[in-house]
Amino acid sequence: MIITIDGPAGAGKSSVAKLVSQYLNFLYLDTGGIYRTMTLYLLRHNTDINDPEALKKALESIHIRYTSSHIYLNEQKVDHLLRTEAISRHTSDYSKNALIREFATRLQREIARDENVVLEGRDIGTVVFPNAEFKFFLTASDTIRGQRRYEELKKKDTSVSLDKIIENIKKRDENDMNREVAPLIKAKDAIEIDTSKLTIEQVAKLIVNHVKTEE
Ligand code: DC
Repeated sequence: MIITIDGPAGAGKSSVAKLVSQYLNFLYLDTGGIYRTMTLYLLRHNTDINDPEALKKALESIHIRYTSSHIYLNEQKVDHLLRTEAISRHTSDYSKNALIREFATRLQREIARDENVVLEGRDIGTVVFPNAEFKFFLTASDTIRGQRRYEELKKKDTSVSLDKIIENIKKRDENDMNREVAPLIKAKDAIEIDTSKLTIEQVAKLIVNHVKTEE
């Protein structure tokens, strides 16, 4: 069974998807992590992503292994390198590229094949798994999303400011919603949940209850 959870940055997708996967004993797939890992590789190798031949060649050298607890880039564990503001910004830009999306989409479908999976991302219910059994779309106000990201980043970097983070999140939304290929958009048959005033547990329980009653 496939459950998709899409939505903008900071809507709570990762925490909720993780919890839902634990409640249901499903695999959890963080598709943003795949785009972030690809971005890390392409930045490290100075790949000009606007040169299709160079990009194709680079993509052939990327091997991503995803387990329930870690993500490996060519067998190097990279989890701890993926969540910086710089990688977030670059990933949002790089994920506009059709070849990059094709690679990531294929990998997501491969990982999820014949599994019970909760996938979270931007285009999972619309493009990657348009026939998923259950689709959810999480939203939250800009301020709440900024605050959540701020709390997360503050632990590692005390120089971050809330205003700057909210500004970055809005830029990222604009990028993700306005790109030509697979933009961030709610699938027609997705259930929308505004998480602004709910805890992670409450959102996860709403989803699990829905799945259990409709199954
Ligand atoms: O979910 P996240 O913040 O880790 O995602 C990082 C970026 O990756 C996001 O700004 C857009 C891109 N992304 C995407 O285009 N499609 C997905 N399914 C997941 C992420």
